[in-house]
Amino acid sequence: MNDRFLRACRRQPVDRTPIWIMRQAGRYLPEYRELRSRVEFLDLCRTPELAAEVTLQPLRRFPLDAAILFSDILLPLDAFGISMTFTPGPRIAEPIRSRAQVDALQARPAGEAVPFVADAVRLLRRELNGRTPLIGFCGAPFTLAAYLVQGEGKEGFGAVKRMMFHEPATLEVLLDKLAAAMVDYLRLQIQGGVQAVQIFDSWAGILGATDYARFALPYVRAIVNGVRESGVPVIYFVNGAPHLIEAAASAGADVLGVCWRMPIDHVAARVGPGVALQGNLDPHALFADAAVVRERATDVLRRMAGRPGHIMNLGHGILPETPIASVEVLIETVQCAN
Ligand code: CP3
Repeated sequence: MNDRFLRACRRQPVDRTPIWIMRQAGRYLPEYRELRSRVEFLDLCRTPELAAEVTLQPLRRFPLDAAILFSDILLPLDAFGISMTFTPGPRIAEPIRSRAQVDALQARPAGEAVPFVADAVRLLRRELNGRTPLIGFCGAPFTLAAYLVQGEGKEGFGAVKRMMFHEPATLEVLLDKLAAAMVDYLRLQIQGGVQAVQIFDSWAGILGATDYARFALPYVRAIVNGVRESGVPVIYFVNGAPHLIEAAASAGADVLGVCWRMPIDHVAARVGPGVALQGNLDPHALFADAAVVRERATDVLRRMAGRPGHIMNLGHGILPETPIASVEVLIETVQCAN
């Protein structure tokens, strides 16, 4: 079994730096677009055979060191009976704005609400047959709340910040409920067989450090603590967060996912040796010529050389228009580097 990804998560020695790519299953792949032209996004996620197929698509093309389950961070909100569409970004039918709405939210067990996720995981473990480790994931409570309160993806997420200043206790109740539901949801994936989990905090960076410490970090800690017993490594990815790095590293995750904004060795110096790092090539670098892709990837590797616990990745999700050839160059560069 290729275990260099899991070894790097635990800061154990590896033969070379492992690599996987955030959002590696998706629209930059023609085979995904072909399938997607026939099947709605939510149907892909909710049909175990199709979710498994899409998960495997990037692995057939590229020698990646990990697979990530095909789904979306908003899918487990099915457990609260929240209905949504994707166009292609998420849209929540009835955004959560009031205390009464928050109080009314009651989560069903993930195993009842989204059983297809556990089925997809089981199928994938069988298909992967120990060759490549499988990563499960969830959204961090603040990021989920940002979508739930706003109702759609929006730079700045004014609605959740308004709630934060206006009715902080309401937001705290919502975050508590989301954290508990995500523990249940990750445990379902872990029981199904995922070998690591990633918590995506795509929007924590809109918070100042003081608000992050109150409205984001404690709920991520609750999730990390809630799955610790399972022993699977936890990755915590925080986007847009140069001002939050030390705090994010204190969440208790085994690996900190680093966004593209800071040199990764500066992050390493700030957080110390106790946490592995994942990242952090700028996704836009993949629009450059092969020589530049090689140079930028090598730069990230050089900055982490000799530090136990580095997983190569982008500093945010791969963009839909990314040329396949650049992905190949990136992976070759990592494979040949050490
Ligand atoms: O990484 C993978 O390959 C697994 C699949 C995955 C998707 N979404 C599939 C998807 C993962 C891990 C996610 C996580 C996710 N979803 C995040 C966190 C990561 C990040 O980018 O910050 C967020 C914020 C979302 C919410 C979301 N879902 C957005 C903003 C969008 C639309 C724009 C976009 O980035 O694609 C989606 C839809 C979505 N999720 C698509 C895919 C493949 C496109 C849907 C389509 O095919 O029409």
